Amino acid sequence: MNQPVTVSRDADIAVITLDNPPVNALSHRLRAPLMEALEKLGDDASVSAIVLTCAGRTFVAGADITEFGKPMQHPILGEIIAALEKIAKPTVAAIHGTALGGGLELALGCHFRVALRDAKLGLPEVKLGLLPGAGGTVRLPYLLGPQKALKVIVSGTPVDAATALEGGLVEAVYDRDLVANAIAFARERVAAGGPFRPVRDRREKIENTDLARFDTEASELAKKARGLEAPIACAQAVRNAITLPFDEALAAEREAFMRLVSGEQSRAQRHLFFAEREAAKVDGVGKDIKAREIRRAGIIGAGTMGGGIAMSFVNGGIPVTLLEMSREALDRGLATIDKNYSISVSRGSLSEDAKSQRMALFTGTTDYADLAGCDIIVEAVFEEMSVKKDVFGKLDKIARPGAVLATNTSYLDVDEIAAATSRPQDVVGMHFFSPANVMKLLEIVRGKHTAPDVLATALAVAKRIGKVPVVVGVCHGFVGNRMLAARSEEAESLLLEGASPAEVDKVFTDFGWPMGPFQMGDLAGLDIGWRNRKSLGKKAIIADPLCEQGRFGQKTGKGYYLYENGRTPKSDPEVLKLIEEKAREHGIERRTILSQEIIERSLYPMINEGARILEEGIAARASDIDIVWVNGYGFPIGKGGPMFWAEKEGIAKIVERLDHWHSRTGKAVFGPAPLLRKLAASGGSFADAREAAA
Ligand code: 3HC
Ligand code: NAI
Repeated sequence: MNQPVTVSRDADIAVITLDNPPVNALSHRLRAPLMEALEKLGDDASVSAIVLTCAGRTFVAGADITEFGKPMQHPILGEIIAALEKIAKPTVAAIHGTALGGGLELALGCHFRVALRDAKLGLPEVKLGLLPGAGGTVRLPYLLGPQKALKVIVSGTPVDAATALEGGLVEAVYDRDLVANAIAFARERVAAGGPFRPVRDRREKIENTDLARFDTEASELAKKARGLEAPIACAQAVRNAITLPFDEALAAEREAFMRLVSGEQSRAQRHLFFAEREAAKVDGVGKDIKAREIRRAGIIGAGTMGGGIAMSFVNGGIPVTLLEMSREALDRGLATIDKNYSISVSRGSLSEDAKSQRMALFTGTTDYADLAGCDIIVEAVFEEMSVKKDVFGKLDKIARPGAVLATNTSYLDVDEIAAATSRPQDVVGMHFFSPANVMKLLEIVRGKHTAPDVLATALAVAKRIGKVPVVVGVCHGFVGNRMLAARSEEAESLLLEGASPAEVDKVFTDFGWPMGPFQMGDLAGLDIGWRNRKSLGKKAIIADPLCEQGRFGQKTGKGYYLYENGRTPKSDPEVLKLIEEKAREHGIERRTILSQEIIERSLYPMINEGARILEEGIAARASDIDIVWVNGYGFPIGKGGPMFWAEKEGIAKIVERLDHWHSRTGKAVFGPAPLLRKLAASGGSFADAREAAA
């Protein structure tokens, strides 16, 4: 095993190199020798400055997340930083890759920070349901000023080296030769002479803070927290940095960190961190399987999804040839893309230049022959099997050998689509979520014949275009939409039996969802489900008449709700009347429905379907399902996804309630899946079941 900490010398400058692959997390095996090295070098009169740097692909990317929730082992990071800060000679952190969380906090313990131009610095703890726990919430505001620090800490989004330089977080940025430059930098500081002020003594940017303005900004951020504790704790901690002496602010931060790290939300968010990384590990797609090279993508259909998918590729730097049936449809699609980028420009998240560069990556066409040079082609045409087969038949004739042929179908059988080609091994599902340029999830649907390197390519493309991929098997609706169908089935019954759309939706938003099922239906377009039901010969008592009246949701200004001014839903007495009429027609007596019942009848069937999906091997692990729901449907991250939440809720309780509703309604969605029964009886978890099956 490598040495986690080594010390070398360049004359009087000592260089400490940390080496704990893959991301130099601050595990105990690294902390103990680091503390020892700092103590030794601090006392060594032959050393006039210390450079702290890392081997491998990155500077320290944070505390070792796997150690959270386990007994603490000294020295803890806060103790190391305190020791570092006591050193009187100049200390310089030399940063490459990502200095994140505890990594940046360690760097903040140094007198100076220098970085490579492509380095990123941030405190992403909030994304793990935490706040920085080793002084980050105090030292960063000291260096950046409280307003900027608040944004960095509450968003968890890293800043680039140029921004860090401008804000005073780093002192110098280099294009290359980081360590040599850091040594030269240290030498200059030694020559310039001390005393060298640690960050803890640099309160200039804190003093004279307009606290009222700070509080207004903090409360704006708190509104977006949607029930999550960490963003609020982060804002409070930055406020403490302004109002409290350094040591008191530090102590308050530590206390908040200890509270959050042992809480349910952080546990859930840490589960999601590792779940996302697990999801990228796919059976049969080992490291030896090479992804195919992707230089240009073809997208067929410039409608709602095709446009968003095309934007995602272009945002990832992949040029796109966009194909439509007619010039008009193509112009419409390109105009929508242009408009979407303009909105980003007006919000300040994209520059005019960047917009022009992105628009230049689009080539429009109505001729399939123009797709011949594409390395991957994603189809997003109407959801009709005959149309999809026709498109794939054409692709088979024109696509170059080895091109990946992907379908964005929501429900259809990918194997049947693949059979329309002579190369089913090159066909894969790439199911994006609406709006496709925003939503992170990508369900990669593995067909019966999909080649491993096609899967590897889809995974690599997902990473390149900033999506979170989950590989799933073929079935109607795959993982997400199949579970959504189980949830939706009961939604109408809740209306008929007494709840209003607004009451059901409120239970969802109280749970932490960004919106409830009826608002979501209105947003997505009720016509999509209507078309799907028709293809399956199914009916919906409320949604069908709504669609027959042209109430497709937001796009028609009416759905379950009224949209008088854009996107704000308003209860519509006409819909409530329709619900009452339909209830009468079906002899259903309406009553008050409590929120617990809404949860049980909406979420438990979904979990039940999730268990069936696991039994069938459509998803490889329960945590993959969590990733689908958190990234594609807004399941609250503080609850860790449906399957994680189910275990906390208690599988035995869920099975008992499913049995109850099954006996009352006779509906298949409530019949507990054998896997759930088994876990309820054994008290085991989904992960245990997977291990047992393996
Ligand atoms: N602790 C433990 N393991 C970690 C880790 C960490 N902080 N960061 C990454 N890993 C592991 C991953 O689980 C993964 O393991 P695997 O290969 O077995 O699946 C491996 O390192 C590689 O990670 P990625 O696949 O994510 O590699 P990328 O190159 O895509 O990304 C990264 C690198 C940007 C550093 C990304 O891993 C990341 O964002 N890491 C987490 C950063 C973070 O949240 N830091 C804050 C931690 S909390 C903290 O510091 C508390 C402090 O305030 C006290
Ligand atoms: P849409 O109706 O907005 O767009 C479809 C586009 O495809 C239209 O512009 C149409 O002109 C074009 N088109 C149809 N046949 C074509 C052909 N043969 N060649 C070239 N272009 C053709 O539909 P939407 O919503 O974008 O859906 C497309 C696909 O994406 C469907 O399979 C749908 O199930 C799937 N999907 C839709 C989601 C949504 O929320 N809308 C979410 C995820 C997947």
